[in-house]
Amino acid sequence: MSIVPKDSEGIAGMRAAGRCAAALLDYLAPFVQPGVTTNEIDRLAEQYTTQVLGATSAPLHYAPSGHRPYPKSICTSVNHQVCHGIPNDNPLKNGDIVNVDVTVIKNGWHGDTSRMFLVGDASFAAQRLCRVCFEAMWHGILQVRPGAYLGDIGHTIQTFAQQHSYSVVREYCGHGIGRSFHEEPQVLHFGQPGTLAVLEPGMTFTIEPMLNIGRKEVRELGDGWTVITKDRSLSAQWEHTVLVTATGVEVLTLSPGCPTAPPFVPEFVPASLATPP
Ligand code: MF3
Ligand code: CO
Ligand code: CO
Repeated sequence: MSIVPKDSEGIAGMRAAGRCAAALLDYLAPFVQPGVTTNEIDRLAEQYTTQVLGATSAPLHYAPSGHRPYPKSICTSVNHQVCHGIPNDNPLKNGDIVNVDVTVIKNGWHGDTSRMFLVGDASFAAQRLCRVCFEAMWHGILQVRPGAYLGDIGHTIQTFAQQHSYSVVREYCGHGIGRSFHEEPQVLHFGQPGTLAVLEPGMTFTIEPMLNIGRKEVRELGDGWTVITKDRSLSAQWEHTVLVTATGVEVLTLSPGCPTAPPFVPEFVPASLATPP
């Protein structure tokens, strides 16, 4: 078992897939409003993915071992749902926070990204959680360069989250991604610097921290997918797919509509928005 860096063809494929995934979230964003059902967002996502992007939805019928096939095209995780929420007919309510997580397959390559959305007027506590989680993801992204360790990413995210008195979910993590949805390595959002795998140019993986206002413990619902916080506290998650470059990191799931990186992120990272050669 090993981490296989992408060659130039793989990198091109991953850039295209990442752009598609981000474009899908850009398309969905204006529909995330009070009164819309998550099933409606799912339907819009499936339609845009197939008819506009010329891609397919990776979650639909995805069945990793130990799981029943996932029934929808996207994941929508509301409030105390941590991840893998299954779209349903309940309308979003004013004040909800929702993570929309999309993964598309374009020409055989996977692009995976998620964002938090505030539905109407969310509480300041909910807004702070979403902002700090976004910043935690970016702190993790800034660790990525050849020679860095996977443990550096987890450590940075955990330290930053705990400084803000949030807990980090342990059971779910980022992952290598490519022709398969979930590849090696696991990208933990906690840990120790200088541990685990050393990053090399061409590696592609996701960084997707889940932060809770309350305790870190989670449980899976009887639907076999939806994960919630055990204490029912609010949870947030953001996700980007990244590429290790010769000099640092390229974020593959940026798009015109994605929130701009936090102020502590230097200019050179958003520059990866530029069209690659
Ligand atoms: N998109 C999720 C991730 O970031 C995985 C969802 S699996 C599904 O890894 F089957 F629930 F869609
Ligand atoms: Co992912
Ligand atoms: Co995802």
